[in-house]
Amino acid sequence: MIRRIGLAASLALGAALLSAQAPPPAATAGFGGGRELQRLTGERFTENCSGCHGAPGTAGRAPNLFDQRLLSQRSDDDLFRIITNGVEGAEMPAFGEVLPSEQIWQLIAWLRLEAENTQPRPRFIADPAGAVIASEQQKFRIDVVAQGLETPWGLAFLPDGRLLVTERAGRLRIIDRKGRLLPQAVTNTPPVWERQDAGLLDVAVDPDYRKTGWIYLSLVELQPGYQLPPAPALKPGERPPNHPSMTVIVRGRLNRQGAWVDAQTLFRAPLDRYTPSGVHYGSRLAFDPQGRLLFTVGERGDMKNAQDLSTPLGKLHRINRDGSIPSDNPFVNRPDVVPSIWSWGHRNPQGLAFDAAGRLWEAEHGPSGGDEINLIQPGGNYGWGVVSMGIQPGIAARTAPGMIGPITYYTPTIAPSGIALYRGNRYPSWSGNLFVTGLAGQQLRRLVLDGERITHEEVLFKSYGRVRAVTTGPDGLLYVLLQRPTGQGTGQPLSASTPGLVIRLVPLP
Ligand code: HEC
Repeated sequence: MIRRIGLAASLALGAALLSAQAPPPAATAGFGGGRELQRLTGERFTENCSGCHGAPGTAGRAPNLFDQRLLSQRSDDDLFRIITNGVEGAEMPAFGEVLPSEQIWQLIAWLRLEAENTQPRPRFIADPAGAVIASEQQKFRIDVVAQGLETPWGLAFLPDGRLLVTERAGRLRIIDRKGRLLPQAVTNTPPVWERQDAGLLDVAVDPDYRKTGWIYLSLVELQPGYQLPPAPALKPGERPPNHPSMTVIVRGRLNRQGAWVDAQTLFRAPLDRYTPSGVHYGSRLAFDPQGRLLFTVGERGDMKNAQDLSTPLGKLHRINRDGSIPSDNPFVNRPDVVPSIWSWGHRNPQGLAFDAAGRLWEAEHGPSGGDEINLIQPGGNYGWGVVSMGIQPGIAARTAPGMIGPITYYTPTIAPSGIALYRGNRYPSWSGNLFVTGLAGQQLRRLVLDGERITHEEVLFKSYGRVRAVTTGPDGLLYVLLQRPTGQGTGQPLSASTPGLVIRLVPLP
């Protein structure tokens, strides 16, 4: 069955769009030669496959493999089987003897990345107010709750209905019960190191807030005691140099004057673990059903960290709310192991959410493709540094004994950030669904769960910019943080700070 798909026109259009886009930003620190491996994989495709299948811009006599429709109908496992075994009775050769399986997996991921590149970028609509979306199960309207934010990162409701929002530049903002963004940020919050992906990141409210008043923040600080060298003169577009920094977890209270008081540091890494990398801070916060605090720390662009239990980098951590270590943590009594570690082998985990059964769902960024949704087991190794579903130099396998694979993964990349389990009753057909935000993918995704399985997925929207975090309000509505697009095609570095919004999804009959 050779399908001739008249894709030349749309491919040419894709190529035109691509060439019109700004060159990829220089912000590739931490991607460890992934672009080079992608280039090599492209050459491998030209050598072995183009003769029959053509290239992204040119059709061949065999099916066009850069066709989204074809790819969406095949799982990676289907493609692997076809390429390995060939197609009997057709010209498609078996490559199982010719190419090592790791190269076949790389070709599959590369095909998906290339196919995405030929698609026009999602159209960006700066003002989503009033947009009505008829999704599969639920019609809803988008309300803009607040605008005028800069790179909003985390959000959490106080029991009285006020909404706390962090801005990466270091401001904790309050949206009052009437939906007004207070013009002044909370004063006296800890200073943050804002550079590339660093800054003030997540916020969470104590499960016993009415009694305790505690609010938790994850933020990035410059290494204490580090003497900043004089800032060099920069050419336009040049990034300032980075300096050793690390994720820190603090808590404090909000007084009546809107000031941060009673500040306590709950987690601070040993100073020799600070690193000048400006990427992969992780930093999502969540409370488990016993009220213990979980937080993520990324591997800071060095995958070896994720497999090294003596560093907090590339780990999910669990502490008591006062910062002490729970006695039932999996590695408490192991010498040379960071005792707050709850799970390991993570890359850049930015999504954490418990479901009604107490299972912990996590989302993390993969290398090129291979973004993961995981179910977290205490002490579990999630494999980064050794295995991945994406393209990464130095990683040759997708699975390995003792390493827990994802429940699902995304190639091409959506860059998942915050996630939430919906437990309200305002959208009855969404009850128990997992909502996943996407930064690069600029989307809010709805995942239908059946226990530990994902049975269905839907993209709810894709036109309103980077989607950073999602939570359920006291009114049972989903609240979502958006940020104006950055990176490819925008003329701005991926990590640029841009205006952001809080929206909510209002159900319509
Ligand atoms: C000698 C020609 C030839 C070469 C070389 C070749 N293919 Fe194919 N391929 C075909 C043909 C013909 C088909 C359609 C088979 C059929 O009728 O189902 C096909 C089908 C496929 C399919 C299934 C498409 C679908 O319908 O889902 C995949 C995937 C694929 N090829 C991948 C590859 C890759 C990857 C390479 C290089 C490593 C490659 N092919 C090299 C001829 C070729």
